[in-house]
Amino acid sequence: MKTKTVFVCQNCGSQSARWVGKCPNCEEWNSYVEEVSTPRIDVNKIAAGSVIAPVLLKEIDVYNDKRYLTGIGEFDRVMGGGIVPGSVTLIGGDPGIGKSTIVLQAGCALARTGLKVLYISGEESVKQAKMRADRVAQAANGNFYIVNEIDVETITGYIHQLTPQVVIIDSIQVVHLAELSSSPGSVAQVRESASVLTQLAKSRGVALFFVGHVTKEGMLAGPRVLEHMVDGVLYFEGERYSSYRVLRANKNRFGSTNEIGVFEMTASGLQEVLNPSEIFLCERPEGSSGSVVVPILEGTRPFLVEIQGLVSRSAFGMVRQKAQGFDANRLALLAAVLEKRLGMNLGDKDIFLNVVGGVKVMDPAADLGVTLAVASALLDKVVPHDTAILGEVGLSAEVRSVAQIATRVNEAQKLGFTRCIVPKNNLKNKNDFKPSNIRLIPVATVREALDKL
Ligand code: TYD
Ligand code: MG
Repeated sequence: MKTKTVFVCQNCGSQSARWVGKCPNCEEWNSYVEEVSTPRIDVNKIAAGSVIAPVLLKEIDVYNDKRYLTGIGEFDRVMGGGIVPGSVTLIGGDPGIGKSTIVLQAGCALARTGLKVLYISGEESVKQAKMRADRVAQAANGNFYIVNEIDVETITGYIHQLTPQVVIIDSIQVVHLAELSSSPGSVAQVRESASVLTQLAKSRGVALFFVGHVTKEGMLAGPRVLEHMVDGVLYFEGERYSSYRVLRANKNRFGSTNEIGVFEMTASGLQEVLNPSEIFLCERPEGSSGSVVVPILEGTRPFLVEIQGLVSRSAFGMVRQKAQGFDANRLALLAAVLEKRLGMNLGDKDIFLNVVGGVKVMDPAADLGVTLAVASALLDKVVPHDTAILGEVGLSAEVRSVAQIATRVNEAQKLGFTRCIVPKNNLKNKNDFKPSNIRLIPVATVREALDKL
């Protein structure tokens, strides 16, 4: 029989009969690799013993299914209030960010509650993992099984034999199916391996975790296809040289997305950070222009971040706008609003924006804060230290209302802020919302906000 080959984009998984230089789907260059197209693996053969038959929807009992709790509050919240048996979660992040550490800690915590946990360590020896576990997980680690294995069929064998409730695959890029000729980490391998393991986990009610590496562009290497297959995608973020780490739910079929958990990497593993606002603000300079504080909301959780702007004359007649932790396009838009609507002269200036502490802000309520940070830096006018700023900014420089204003204002109040600039529209029908220790300053436009600072 003639072997059929197919070209597969290693970035997004698109296929083509011929080689193409630029992927028409994800626009990545030179990402097509020839792979032997083998018929899909017969999953039922591998997951033998599990009977799958249609059932009546009304007879499916979900409410008595208890979620597994690790007791690590930050982790459980990101998981949507615990881990759902039979769910599949992908944890992505840069190499060295702490993915193995978090799954090891969570796994040991689950094992201590009496669950049987199987950790497939494809990248590190069991001795290395043991040394790490002793460092990060206090008590001797209960029902925690570990094996150094990368062959998927052997792994499914272990799952049948050991019947664990929780399985961790670290990482999905190193495991492989012997039936497929392509190398581990290639799209075909990752997709098929994940598919086999996922179906097995689903049919047996096992909670499954995949650890996945992320490329320099912030994409899950190769298996972007994986994101569609799993129930939840968590990203572990943080700056290499800062000890703070943020675990963010990007997709969650069993809870809200945008929940985050904040951790600090210490000598004894990841510690929960229960009050992130304090940390993100503790090094805030006093009396320096360009610095503002914004109560952002991540999922259900408010916290305060410091946003810093810097404006300087551009050196080469080519203006630069750089943002760290904020969308650069959004920054360009807000700068254009300042320029066109408020007549500020930013055309020949470089603009830099930084969100302190390695946080990524996507909340539109930070718009006004960003706008004022830039304006404050340009005018060298200090935003008062005790003032928090809230509001979305529209193209006519109007300030639009934000979601859940009370939660945000209360967080600012808790941290000792005495004034908060808020969108006027937010106060219209909120007669009942009258915080006691913080003065609300309603504004309708960016100009008004600047005047009232
Ligand atoms: P790791 O979990 O191996 O990262 P990943 O699996 O995402 O590649 O984390 C490795 C880094 O974390 C390493 O640089 C050392 C640091 N670390 C600590 O600082 N303290 C600890 O207790 C542990 C376990 C790791
Ligand atoms: Mg690792």
